[in-house]
Amino acid sequence: MEYRKLGKSDVEVSVLAFGAWAIGGWMWGGADSRQAVHAIEAAIDLGMTSIDTAPVYGFGLSEELVGKAIRGKREKVQLLTKFGMLWNEKKGKFFFASVDNSGKNIDIYRYASRERVISDCDESLRRMGTDYIDLFQIHWPDPTTPVDETMEALAFLQQKGKIRAGGVCNYSRDLLAEAGNSYHLASNQVPYSMVNRQIEKDVVPYCMENNIGILAYSPLQRGLLTGKIRSGHPFNEGDSRPGTPYYKEPNLSNILHFLETIKPVAERNHLTLAQLILNWTIHQPGITCALAGARSPEQVKENIKAADARISEEDFQFIHSELNKLTIDPSI
Ligand SMILES: NC(=O)c1ccc[n+]([C@@H]2O[C@H](COP(=O)([O-])OP(=O)(O)OC[C@H]3O[C@@H](n4cnc5c(N)ncnc54)[C@H](OP(=O)(O)O)[C@@H]3O)[C@@H](O)[C@H]2O)c1
Repeated sequence: MEYRKLGKSDVEVSVLAFGAWAIGGWMWGGADSRQAVHAIEAAIDLGMTSIDTAPVYGFGLSEELVGKAIRGKREKVQLLTKFGMLWNEKKGKFFFASVDNSGKNIDIYRYASRERVISDCDESLRRMGTDYIDLFQIHWPDPTTPVDETMEALAFLQQKGKIRAGGVCNYSRDLLAEAGNSYHLASNQVPYSMVNRQIEKDVVPYCMENNIGILAYSPLQRGLLTGKIRSGHPFNEGDSRPGTPYYKEPNLSNILHFLETIKPVAERNHLTLAQLILNWTIHQPGITCALAGARSPEQVKENIKAADARISEEDFQFIHSELNKLTIDPSI
């Protein structure tokens, strides 16, 4: 496993990090908590020492499971969590309506006032049973709070020693520039996969110029790029994946066809599609780390092997030529 420095901070993350959204169950049709703890333990034992979670993932559940799995191993791991997404209060900007793990209707809000950032930090520390967070990130931009107020709260927490570094998620180039006026951001966490490369236009160049780390989320497009999901896949109730553009026709068929064309590259490198795709992700310009979600130790063990694979330039060029032929409509 390779470890890389996150921007100008002194936090080093594993190039493949454990993504802990699915284990919270919310928007993933539930999850098995025992398996989840074993999955994180396997990740840490195998060198995937960075774990990305958030309070809203299962409404505290994901952070609690992370806390359980890291007990006695705190110094070995880097805890990346988030703030500013509310399910228990209607404050800030309404984001979307959802249902919690018990089927109850809830409204999600984005809110990152100074007071809220500080109280969210204390709640996350409590749930994970630790006294510091390695990377504390705003989960989504909050248009109701001035950016510098949120950034100053991060600086305050860092000065207090409660967080080692502060970052953002889902920030545009312009928001990054605005935030940069009041705080040294360590990173931006953004969606990036072989089939979703929108950040290459301006976010990646900006982050590279300004030494801001990039954490690529949903690199397997939530499981689709493993090749296991076909038309008519039996998703659990509450799993939001079939409603997303990549899982809808004609995108789904186009992506499955693309995967068939690159499968020989995986095979000749003795890799699965998931391993090839994760390896490709961590070798793209500006990408510090890929957050790979997993529900079980088996998925972790498969994904982790992607970090050490060596793919030739020729194979990467072939993948890019096939990607150039792929058509995806992200608006359906
Ligand atoms: N900041 C944000 O707004 C934001 C948004 C999204 C994600 N994230 C972060 O990024 C992380 C990763 O993204 P993600 O979880 O959305 O998607 P992902 O990493 O692209 O996909 C993860 C899912 O794919 C399936 N999978 C993983 N490895 C597999 C394997 N080897 N074989 C078969 N199936 C496999 C599992 O689901 P199944 O077994 O159910 O198929 C797993 O939960 C998240 O966990 C979260 O930490 C952040």
